[in-house]
Amino acid sequence: MIGIFDSGLGGLSALSEVRRLLPDEDITYFGDTGRVPYGSRSRETIIKYALQDMRFLMTKHIDAVLVACGTVSSTAIDILREKYPLLPIIGVVDSAARVAARTTRNKLVGIIATTATIASRSFERELHAIDPELELYPVACPLFVPLVENGFISPDDEVTLLVAKRYLEPIQKSGADTLILGCTHYPIISRTIAKVLPDVNIVSSSKAAAEELAAKLRSMGNTGGGGRTEYYVSDEPVGFETTASIFLETELADRVTRIDIDKY
Ligand code: DGL
Repeated sequence: MIGIFDSGLGGLSALSEVRRLLPDEDITYFGDTGRVPYGSRSRETIIKYALQDMRFLMTKHIDAVLVACGTVSSTAIDILREKYPLLPIIGVVDSAARVAARTTRNKLVGIIATTATIASRSFERELHAIDPELELYPVACPLFVPLVENGFISPDDEVTLLVAKRYLEPIQKSGADTLILGCTHYPIISRTIAKVLPDVNIVSSSKAAAEELAAKLRSMGNTGGGGRTEYYVSDEPVGFETTASIFLETELADRVTRIDIDKY
């Protein structure tokens, strides 16, 4: 059983990649919809939430975890790995950094993520460890998460397009040929982002992490289960079910269970 968690819908972008790569694995997904967004909170709060999310997932007999949240991957992953030393815990930052460093030709790389992720400079550290010559253009895009959580995900949505144009202007001006979507909510609106930056290679942190998880599970010789997916959230499931159904192109009505995350 694979555990995937995020503050809300964003981790579904990782879930859909994991499902594509590992169709037979059982997956438990948790979206902390009662406390989204994480990206504007303090490090202490993000760590506290991440530990609770992990404790909930561990009740499901998990073999590996994908931290499908750039914010948690940037601020709390070392603490999670310390707490669960025997559990493979894959984050989105290092995986995406490796793909971006391989992809760029002109060595100019844009990074968009939550305020907490950009402030942590996690992507800059990883990218410069791979190639100190990379020129990086980090931009925090805090409005993207509420737009996704509220279902403004269509590539034709004018509000999301307008916000994207505003946020992505510095990246466009920089001449970067590669852009990391450093928050897992952003691949859900990647078609909007591609409309604004049509000539830029877009690196999804969700896809990069899913590929790393798949490689890890194959190396562990994991044979999978029945390919079932269970969905849990920490608030009213209806909004999550509606937007997730559109994004995953699967009907999720009445398939999402609400839990009390404060009990964990
Ligand atoms: N999807 C998450 C991330 O990758 C969290 C966004 C948020 O809750 O602010 O950063």
